[in-house]
Amino acid sequence: MYRAGIIGCGKIAQLRHIPEYAARQDVRLAGFYDKNTARAKELAEKYGGENYHSYEEMLSDPKIDVVSVCTANHSHAEIAVTALRAGKHVLCEKPMAVTLSECERMAEEAEKSGKYLVIGHNQRLLRTHQEAKRLLEAGEIGKLIFFQTSFTHAGPETWSIDAGKNVWFFDKNKAAFGAMADLGIHKTDLIRYLTGDEIVSAQAVLATLDKKDGEGNLISVDDYASCVYRLGRGAVGTMTVGWSNYGQEDNSTILYGEKGVMKIYCDRQYSLIIEKRDGSSIRYELDQIQTNDGQSKSGVIDEFIDCITEKRVSVISGEEALQSMRAVFSAINGAGGGNGAAEREGGNR
Ligand SMILES: NC(=O)c1ccc[n+]([C@@H]2O[C@H](COP(=O)([O-])OP(=O)(O)OC[C@H]3O[C@@H](n4cnc5c(N)ncnc54)[C@H](O)[C@@H]3O)[C@@H](O)[C@H]2O)c1
Repeated sequence: MYRAGIIGCGKIAQLRHIPEYAARQDVRLAGFYDKNTARAKELAEKYGGENYHSYEEMLSDPKIDVVSVCTANHSHAEIAVTALRAGKHVLCEKPMAVTLSECERMAEEAEKSGKYLVIGHNQRLLRTHQEAKRLLEAGEIGKLIFFQTSFTHAGPETWSIDAGKNVWFFDKNKAAFGAMADLGIHKTDLIRYLTGDEIVSAQAVLATLDKKDGEGNLISVDDYASCVYRLGRGAVGTMTVGWSNYGQEDNSTILYGEKGVMKIYCDRQYSLIIEKRDGSSIRYELDQIQTNDGQSKSGVIDEFIDCITEKRVSVISGEEALQSMRAVFSAINGAGGGNGAAEREGGNR
């Protein structure tokens, strides 16, 4: 039996982590901590665990075996490293952390402690993405030539448990980056996962185009990012992410190969479509993309716990996330601002 502690009891903890732990026979929700003490207390009363007064108090308690870090981005590294040092297995939400050195420190600490560090890259666990990877590896569209991937929606201000225009996601001190790290990290990681290739160079434009805070000022982080990624085996592609899409959420990826085209989450009914060069097509009805309004099981908690039990390397390990973060930081560091600023190219090694 694993005794799980939840650090940060907001939306992602309440919609995914807590119910997915609660659904397992081999896990007991054993403790909660949030800087909003009433929030943690309420959950402790509901699920029967301890209500801790600091994350250090939870992490020094031998009654906790595994923890979920679901706090604002700037605190991920500090909490995850403390947890690993305290001998806990850690599931940390994305983005892994807010600087590359923090990400490296987390991966090093996981290695040193021998404990699991898993990052909430749920896109890798979607059935359609897993099937897409299998078909790409089987050569269904041949050698990859170019790709495009998008993740755009109306922004996190209605999503957060502390919803509103002054949400922490818009605060550079707490979030560090905007759409690029919130959404871009998912798609950067997805491209690495699907292609099995590394991003060797990145160009990007990050901009704050539309999103405003409660005072009517443009927010202090990007609400739009567009990147051009070059992969090790030669394919080139674009990633567009944004928080100012006020129509239907877009979470699509298209891969263009020598033998055909693979379209992922471009069609509401058929989540995966392959269009062959000879004009034929194959349509797969596998699942529907998770959206802010349409939540489904993430599978991240099952992956975390099953990996520990089965002693296997996770597909969403800290090491994998570190490589994806390298590409994100490379893009951010080389990026120009909006309004026509010049872009620079940055390598990620
Ligand atoms: N995997 C995904 O698709 C996904 C989706 C949404 C959010 N997230 C990530 O999950 C994390 C949490 O996001 P959310 O949507 O739940 O936000 P939220 O605003 O709904 O909740 C955050 C909670 O953390 C608490 N908190 C913040 N900093 C803290 C600290 N230092 N110590 C203790 N408690 C703290 C807040 O009081 C709040 O209860 C973020 O890093 C976010 O990027 C991931």
